[in-house]
Amino acid sequence: MTSTLTDSAFLQACRGERPAHTPVWFMRQAGRSLPEYLKIREGTAMLDSCFRTDMVVEITMQPVRRHGVDAAIFFSDIVVPLKAIGVDLDIVPGTGPVVAEPVRSAAQLAQFRDVEPDDVRTITDAVTALVGELGSTPLIGFAGAPFTLASYLVEGGPSRDHRLTKQLMYSDPELWHALLGRMAVIAGQFLRMQVEAGASAIQLFDSWAGHLSLADYETYVKPHSTAVLESVADLGVPRIHFGVGTGELLHAMGDAGADVVGVDWRVPLDDAVTRIGPGRAVQGNLDPTTLFAPTEFVHARAAEVIEAGRAAEGHVFNLGHGVLPATDPDALTRLVDFVHAYQPSDA
Ligand code: CP3
Repeated sequence: MTSTLTDSAFLQACRGERPAHTPVWFMRQAGRSLPEYLKIREGTAMLDSCFRTDMVVEITMQPVRRHGVDAAIFFSDIVVPLKAIGVDLDIVPGTGPVVAEPVRSAAQLAQFRDVEPDDVRTITDAVTALVGELGSTPLIGFAGAPFTLASYLVEGGPSRDHRLTKQLMYSDPELWHALLGRMAVIAGQFLRMQVEAGASAIQLFDSWAGHLSLADYETYVKPHSTAVLESVADLGVPRIHFGVGTGELLHAMGDAGADVVGVDWRVPLDDAVTRIGPGRAVQGNLDPTTLFAPTEFVHARAAEVIEAGRAAEGHVFNLGHGVLPATDPDALTRLVDFVHAYQPSDA
């Protein structure tokens, strides 16, 4: 890593330092809020675009050019490593990942083989190209956490209540742990390949973990998320761990081995810092729907987020979940400018 990259505001904040300005990026910054994204995606299916080096590079760069965010997140999806090893699934527009044969039996686990470098060559090529193009702007690699991946595999698609997932978890713990164990290996391998190709941080998305009680999270999920984060510990890049509705799980998610805990908008960051405990930075947490309010309101709320974030050893500004597709991209650019210019009261 070059010194300017190492000293970037984003990596400083991830390490628990206080950079000159609060770094900001947005989950789902690459995507349907951008007209240039809609244009380049015309005629190419979502999953096909994730395996095209040129499209991954261009779509990843779009929000960096337009908004001047402090980090890029590589354009892909949590189900891409599963697609890469041949799992029969698709991403249906307006719905999300849909799996042809939902996982119900131990015999089905054989399809979840290790990810080999050749399976994702077009993707790691994109990461390498991006790192060159980004210069001192860090690239975040990512993977889906075992629980969130398993939820799609067991339900067969998105679920409101995760009923079938929990049914498997409670009724066949042996199969459950075998499935999550495989997801942990696959997620870990995919993250390692991204970092080895040049990504300078990783984020583990456990988007649906907030549907679990703390006790169930500890018993059925945390050991596997810990295994993923542990498997990339030797790479020395910051590890961000994020989920939605995880107010009761924040400490456990940090304890799983995160350097940075992503917080959704329900818990103020100073409260989140108390829950998480010392030694970890935080990322978040403006409600993504705030961006539909008048600019003065957005900026007042953003100031509150930054002030609350001062309780943390390091704070990366983000939304509490992904950018909604209907968001006005100019509101995002204005927010980046505001976060960069804002001087916290204790600075
Ligand atoms: O953040 C970024 O800019 C990087 C790209 C990214 C995508 N998916 C692109 C995408 C990332 C980090 C993801 C992660 C992802 N995918 C998660 C975890 C993050 C979160 O939002 O909680 C989850 C749960 C998924 C599964 C998934 N894939 C969903 C729910 C959807 C949306 C379905 C829809 O059409 O509303 C997708 C598709 C998807 N992934 C799109 C994008 C840009 C939309 C595809 C399109 O343009 O049609």
